[in-house]
Amino acid sequence: MLVINETSILIDTIDTKKFQNKTIGFVPTMGALHDGHIELIRAAKLECDIIICSIYINPTQFNNVTDLEKYPRTLDDDINLLEKNGCDIAFCPSDKEMFKMGNTLTIDFGEIGKVLEGEFRPGHFSGVGLIVGKFFNIIKPNISYFGQKDLQQFSIVKSLVQNLNFNIQLRCIPTVRSKDGLALSSRNARLSKNGKEEALVFYDSLVLAKQKLLKGETVDDITKEIKSKFNSDIVKLEYFEIVHQDTFEKINTFNNPENIAICIAGYVEGIRLIDNILLS
Ligand code: PAF
Repeated sequence: MLVINETSILIDTIDTKKFQNKTIGFVPTMGALHDGHIELIRAAKLECDIIICSIYINPTQFNNVTDLEKYPRTLDDDINLLEKNGCDIAFCPSDKEMFKMGNTLTIDFGEIGKVLEGEFRPGHFSGVGLIVGKFFNIIKPNISYFGQKDLQQFSIVKSLVQNLNFNIQLRCIPTVRSKDGLALSSRNARLSKNGKEEALVFYDSLVLAKQKLLKGETVDDITKEIKSKFNSDIVKLEYFEIVHQDTFEKINTFNNPENIAICIAGYVEGIRLIDNILLS
């Protein structure tokens, strides 16, 4: 596996004969890799000849300085894991490399960028769009892979691809969970054993809400019941919403499980976690 830190070297490498007429699969990550990321690589290996992963903690998508400072950094382990799992190139640029001109561009994704994650993390999706757009321009992958845990991010990237005419296919790969149901996330590494147990309330709430919706209970009643479960000091709910899977508009009445997602976000031991479940 090649480990490359500079954009120009990555571009020159992709330009060499070895990479010509090969299908390139791209998996963007912020490191602290876990089985969820490995699943993205596995999916990429099934349909691509060359796998490129980026490891870059993108400062422009953090709206909270402490969150950025405390984000787990495990570069050596990550590189070993990528190599073991058949990645061909790990692209690990510095901030200076990615933002030579500073961060001068913002992207407005419209309504979809203003709700849920967009509402609680102002500027987050602009930062995601900016870095993913840069990677797409540099790497020009055929297919790029994202996790369903960040479902709204996936819609944002879809919008980026459509609006900027990137000739790139996107894949959304189902969330990988611990055997108890906790969605794997790089931030989980910061949770205590007790915190991990407390965090199960997020997935349990999603499963319960799905059952109740399918049984015909109203969105209002379900929302009230789920919100009432979050009254401890350790776990705090930020949002619980039943939405259209593509637009992220809230739904008030439910009659068709197609394209409906239930999304949740909150804090455990001060660490922000998100999760979602699809209805069909
Ligand atoms: O999902 C992530 O880890 C990040 O948002 C991404 C897509 C790597 C962009 O920094």
